[in-house]
Amino acid sequence: MAIRSVRYMGDPLLSARAQEVSHFPSAALTELVGDMKDTMAALNGAGLAAPQIGVPLRIVIFGVQANPRYPEVAGVPDTVLVNPVVEAIGDDEEEGWEGCLSVPGMRGLVPRYQRIRYRGFDLEGTPIMREAEGFHARVVQHECDHLDGILYPLRIRDLRFFGYESVLFPEGMEASDR
Ligand code: NI
Repeated sequence: MAIRSVRYMGDPLLSARAQEVSHFPSAALTELVGDMKDTMAALNGAGLAAPQIGVPLRIVIFGVQANPRYPEVAGVPDTVLVNPVVEAIGDDEEEGWEGCLSVPGMRGLVPRYQRIRYRGFDLEGTPIMREAEGFHARVVQHECDHLDGILYPLRIRDLRFFGYESVLFPEGMEASDR
């Protein structure tokens, strides 16, 4: 397994729709996801999508440890999701600050559905289906957007709320990069 280089906004691969995974489990898939985990951990990300390391397949990983210093930010289970599908539960949205390993140093205020249902498969092909809300739902929507070529700045409604993290949050911010 290895840390791979992350593609940055402007790379055409990040604007393209990724392809469904058709065969799993497979050794190649296991190796790819291992590289994704290593890369995400090395960069302190909350999630990563395969296209971000140059692989145009519909695979995302995510996970955030609950941090007792920030009890308002709930943990998100460590998850590998292949061929994910996300649907909103209800119309409620909320705005929240996001960052992205493909848009380093920036933050933006992004509307997301407050509650979602998502499904997909783990590495062995076992179905996963969950409901999520709040930060968990936000992370999943952000990562799955990558598979459709959508980076979070495209979702920002008011670009006054998009800028450099060091300027927006000079004293730091609780949420990690994603
Ligand atoms: Ni991202």
